[in-house]
Amino acid sequence: MSGKSPLHTPLPHDSGELHVTGTARYVDDIPVPSDCLHLAFGLSHEARGVITRADLSPVRNSPGVKLVMKATDLPHANDVSAAAHDEPLLAMGEVFYHGQPIFLVAADSHIAARKAVRKAKITIDPRPAILSIDDALAADSRFEGGPVIWENGDATNAINGAPHRIEGAIEMGGQEHFYLEGQAALALPQENGDMLVHSSTQHPTEIQHKVAEALGKPMHAVRVEIRRMGGGFGGKESQGNALAVACAVAAAHTGRPCKMRYDRDDDMIITGKRHDFRIAYRAGYDDDGRLYGVDFTQYARCGWAADLSLPVTDRAMLHADNAYHVPVMRITSHRLKTNTTSATAYRGFGGPQGMLGIERVMDHIAHDLGLDPAELRRRNFYAAPLDGGKKTQRTHYNQSVKDFELHGMLADLKKSADYIGRMQAVADWNAENEVLKKGLAFSPLKFGISFTLSHLNQAGALVHIYQDGSVHLNHGGTEMGQGLNQKVAQVAASIFGLQVENIRITATDTAKVPNTSATAASSGSDLNGMAVKAACTRLTGRLVRFLSGHWGVKPVEVSFGDGQVYGGPNSMPFSEASNLAYQARISLSATGFYRTPKLSWDRIRGRGRPFFYFAYGAAITEVVIDTLTGENRILRADILHDAGSSLNPALDIGQIEGAYVQGAGWLTMEELVWNDQGRLLTHAPSTYKIPACSDRPDIFNVALWPGENRADTIYRSKAVGEPPFMLGISAFLALSDAVAACGDDYPALDAPATPERILAAVKRMRA
Ligand code: MTE
Ligand code: MOS
Repeated sequence: MSGKSPLHTPLPHDSGELHVTGTARYVDDIPVPSDCLHLAFGLSHEARGVITRADLSPVRNSPGVKLVMKATDLPHANDVSAAAHDEPLLAMGEVFYHGQPIFLVAADSHIAARKAVRKAKITIDPRPAILSIDDALAADSRFEGGPVIWENGDATNAINGAPHRIEGAIEMGGQEHFYLEGQAALALPQENGDMLVHSSTQHPTEIQHKVAEALGKPMHAVRVEIRRMGGGFGGKESQGNALAVACAVAAAHTGRPCKMRYDRDDDMIITGKRHDFRIAYRAGYDDDGRLYGVDFTQYARCGWAADLSLPVTDRAMLHADNAYHVPVMRITSHRLKTNTTSATAYRGFGGPQGMLGIERVMDHIAHDLGLDPAELRRRNFYAAPLDGGKKTQRTHYNQSVKDFELHGMLADLKKSADYIGRMQAVADWNAENEVLKKGLAFSPLKFGISFTLSHLNQAGALVHIYQDGSVHLNHGGTEMGQGLNQKVAQVAASIFGLQVENIRITATDTAKVPNTSATAASSGSDLNGMAVKAACTRLTGRLVRFLSGHWGVKPVEVSFGDGQVYGGPNSMPFSEASNLAYQARISLSATGFYRTPKLSWDRIRGRGRPFFYFAYGAAITEVVIDTLTGENRILRADILHDAGSSLNPALDIGQIEGAYVQGAGWLTMEELVWNDQGRLLTHAPSTYKIPACSDRPDIFNVALWPGENRADTIYRSKAVGEPPFMLGISAFLALSDAVAACGDDYPALDAPATPERILAAVKRMRA
């Protein structure tokens, strides 16, 4: 045990070796008792209708089937919603989307359950389904009664008074999470009617809560455990509820363990995805491209139930400015209710959609004025903070932007990526080549960090030091591949003067740390890192008091480092100190708690300080398109991202690379297609294309912006999980730039910019 503090060092993911050798254990890998039952749902084959007949006897008689349950067979709550109580586990007489679970089957094997559900004879009297944004507007089908409107001044006046105006609209598709590990849960009945649930979830406390309601028990009767997920990306904030509740109810009914894992098709058909949006805009600006005002109308397709749509669409409004000071802005947000799967959280949580709105406006204005789009963006950036933070500008929701980093970041990135030189090279290429056209684009990023539901910004931790000096650590966050456990272990190790090998983080467990928030909003390490720090500091405090007495030195003289504890002329290994403290009957276990300070937010008025701070990023992407086929490639991406004083630069760069590719995938190749009966046609990797390794940029330069968080976060680091997703916007803008080289008009590309859309846009341009 020696060496320097592991803080701020590029350690690999703690489970990296387990991941690549196939030995990391996921829910589906947990050995189950031999009497375990396997579940499957019977699904609606209509997007909307009334169930007139449900003959389930062929299902009951199917080989291996032990239990069939409909809504009316459920003993207690029939609700798996996140908050709104509008999402039954099993449909009650009516169905609201194609793929909605109607009944469940528990059988001896997974395949027996799947075969059985297909034998149901269900008749549904179809009703007119509301599928598209236009359908929903025509039927006035929405959440929250009417649109939500925020306005900080008179936008119409500001726009009409400007020297120039543009207007337009952009459509952007949804996105399937495509976590490699599908949704899964396992419920094990315990004595006294208690239930132990293993669930692939970002939100163990919500699973505990929903299972307790469904069993008619207090929360203390349910314990939820999750060691890791094979990816969540927001798709396991609420979408795991149905499986966990189904397993728990069936387990309570039969007294046997119950397990459920969706096959990929079911996973894609049943679970929610990113919200697709249409954003209409009107903007006024002067000769230099400086904005006077912008008026946005955001239309979000939320699906059949509320799920997390309210906070998602709020966050889209909160990011309608992205990095720009828009003097006057009006945003009208329509939260539309449709007969499609309920859209849910997905990396960025509405932020990407809101941001793409203003990035489209910037792109459109630059084209209109014939200005360099990066320079136009810079002119509209928020002011750089002056010393003392006096001359700061405020967002449209009245939060002052005190930590704006993008002036410096853009200057650095332009240099390192040779933006000016490559703009010329692209122009030269396009002048000489008819078939292959290139495009280059810059996009900046400012993302607000904190849950916008302020009370969620809290976390707890539980730390034990054993008598041999090894440390066992729990916190409320969940591990989904992002490296949260390693970062938090680095925090604990540095406080005790140990290395991460001395710290063991085990499964997240609702019995160890209660009342947790979802690991979401990128705040996992901010919140849990602080809670762990608080717990560790309490323990070092006790050790310091004990050892200062033991050695007869002042408490301030006692310190931890290199696996040792020091005090004046004395020292001993941390393990020995732990054992001595144990002998002296000092408690070596402590909890820690943290809540984010300084937040105040009125979501109805759209005013206040929803965010503790902002994370920043900048990207420049170069693409090439084939104007005969629409095919395209990302040739190069250069990214400068602000992770504050990074807790772990290796993990952070991994997050940035993965997020960029996922963001570019959303806007370029991932396309969800529903038919006019509301059936999802793209429900397998054969028809739904996510970026593969070979789709990453040929040249991919990712660097961290050297600087520390001005807000007092865990060792001045910044959240990094979601923000770089939005750097993928630069890939979309670069494609638009390449299309623009085919004519004089503004291409007005919609997303995803698939080869078909690019080809159609090229044809429009050349017509
Ligand atoms: N990275 C990996 N490898 N897998 C994931 O599922 N989810 C993202 C991001 N990075 C995800 C990921 C999302 S949506 C969020 S909110 C954050 O990680 C959550 O973790 P954090 O708060 O610890 O950053
Ligand atoms: Mo992330 S969408 O907040 O789980």
